[in-house]
Formats: sequence, C-alpha cells, structure tokens
Amino acid sequence: ERSLLGLKDLSRDEIMSILNRAAYWDSQSEKVVPILNHKFVVNMFFENSTRTRFSFEMAEKRLGAEVMNFAAAASSVEKGESISDTVRTLEAVGVDAGVIRLNPAGVLQELAERVSIPLVNAGDGNNEHPTQALLDLYTMKQVFGEFSGLTVSIIGDIKHSRVARSNLWALQKLGARVQFCAPETMMAPELAVHAPYVSMETAMKADVVMMLRVQLERHSEGVFKSKAEYREHYGLTEERAAGLARHAIIMHPAPFNRNVEIDDAVVESEKSTIFKQMSNGVPIRMAVIERAMKG
Ligand code: CP
Repeated sequence: ERSLLGLKDLSRDEIMSILNRAAYWDSQSEKVVPILNHKFVVNMFFENSTRTRFSFEMAEKRLGAEVMNFAAAASSVEKGESISDTVRTLEAVGVDAGVIRLNPAGVLQELAERVSIPLVNAGDGNNEHPTQALLDLYTMKQVFGEFSGLTVSIIGDIKHSRVARSNLWALQKLGARVQFCAPETMMAPELAVHAPYVSMETAMKADVVMMLRVQLERHSEGVFKSKAEYREHYGLTEERAAGLARHAIIMHPAPFNRNVEIDDAVVESEKSTIFKQMSNGVPIRMAVIERAMKG
C-alpha cells in the first residue's frame, strides 16, 4: 500500500510504471474489473471539484471498490472539526484508503504520517496535483511517444497552480524542457531557478502549450484590468494558435475560462487535447488507486 502525495519525490521509474499501468487499464474492454472487491475507499473533497472527484469515483468503481464520498459542507467540519480529525475518523470507521483535496499546502505529509491508510493527493493548495500531471504526461506520451526533447510551455497563473508544479517536477525527471510564461502578478518567483520565464512569443514555439486557468477566486485583488486585457497579452487566441507548430498540442487541465486564457474555438480545435485529458484521468486514477490499495 502506498500513498501518492506528489511527484516531486517520486522517481522516474515509479512515474513510468504508473503511466504503463494506466495504458494497461486503458486497453481493457471490460468496464469493471473487480480487483478491489470488499475494499472501501473514501473521496474527501474539502475543495470543489468536478473532473478529479468524478474520475476518481469512476476509477474506484471500475476496480470494484466500495466508494464513499465525503462532502465537507454536510459534515462535522461545519462544527469546526479539523481536516486531520476528519481523516482519522474515517480511518477509525474502517476505510482502506482515502483520496483527499484540501486547501492548505504543506499539511498533507504530516496528515499521512498520522494515519495508517494510504492517502492520494487530489490537489493540495498550490503545492501539487499529482494525478492531473500524470494524466497530462499520459496524454503527451500518447501523442509524442517519449518526453526527451519535448519543450513544454506552461502559461498563466503559475503562482496559484499546483498543476504547474506537479508537471514541472515530473517533466524534468522525464527529460522534457519546461518554460513558464506569466504576467508578473501571477509568477511564482521561487520556481525561476527550476525553469525560465519566457515571453508569450517564445512560449508559442513549444511542442506542448499548456494553458492554466486564471484562478479568479484566489486573487484577492485585481491582477489585470479586464479579462479582455488578459486575453490580449496572455490568452491563447485563435490568432496565436494558428501560429503554433504543425505538430504542437494545446492542453488545459480545466475548468477553463473560455475567451479569457483560451479562445472558445481553440478549446474545440484539432490541436486541443483538453477532453482527451479528462478521459485519460480515469485509467491514470485506476493505476494510482490500484497502487495505493494493492501495492
Ligand atoms: N482539473 C481539475 O482538477 O478539475 P476539477 O477541479 O474539476 O477536479
């Protein structure tokens, strides 16, 4: 049994092993392969989610697990119970593994040490979102076959992005080159030692153009004058998309702000892998849940 808290400390071999196992689950024609019969898994989302929450549930059910869903708003968290005591409570009632999304960054390691069940990080603050990056890697591997030699531009709200961080750690281990592009108010200066910040013009020359959602709910004050201004300077407009390399792909973890960081028509374009990424979330999470619960 193994927790998955992030990709920063995961080896290249472990990452490849999860991608390979996801390919195995992807190739299965049977929708349900009940290797986790009589196992109980709880999805604990202390922050909202659509994709991650439902693709974990789909993955767990496809492996035959008993699935419990914890919603903070309908729980004793509303009475002031801590995240830590909530996880310990769920362990005490008998769950075998937990998937968790929470807002504070940096508490997950300590939490995992306080319980004996494996925990899978479904996004912790701006720290990591390992299964999102794994499904992004899986999507890139489907298109390009390998990572070495790939240049990946990650564009937008780097400061608040756990997706950018997990992708950075993993892509560099796998031999890809990562570059960031962001307005100054959305940069994470501490990441500059790991990957360069480049202009939008340079960012558009990459093999993979990964757009990030402008996290309007996490910015306490206006960081740009208007959505139109953001789109003009940092948006993947139809015009910019038309200038990408013929082989380039366009990624976005979603949800996306249509016509802010990415144009409506670009979301739907041939180069866009956005909906494929969502589909790939299921086999990736099957591989991660299997690893957590069966080793
Ligand atoms: N990409 C992603 O994490 O989406 P959700 O917030 O809907 O889970």
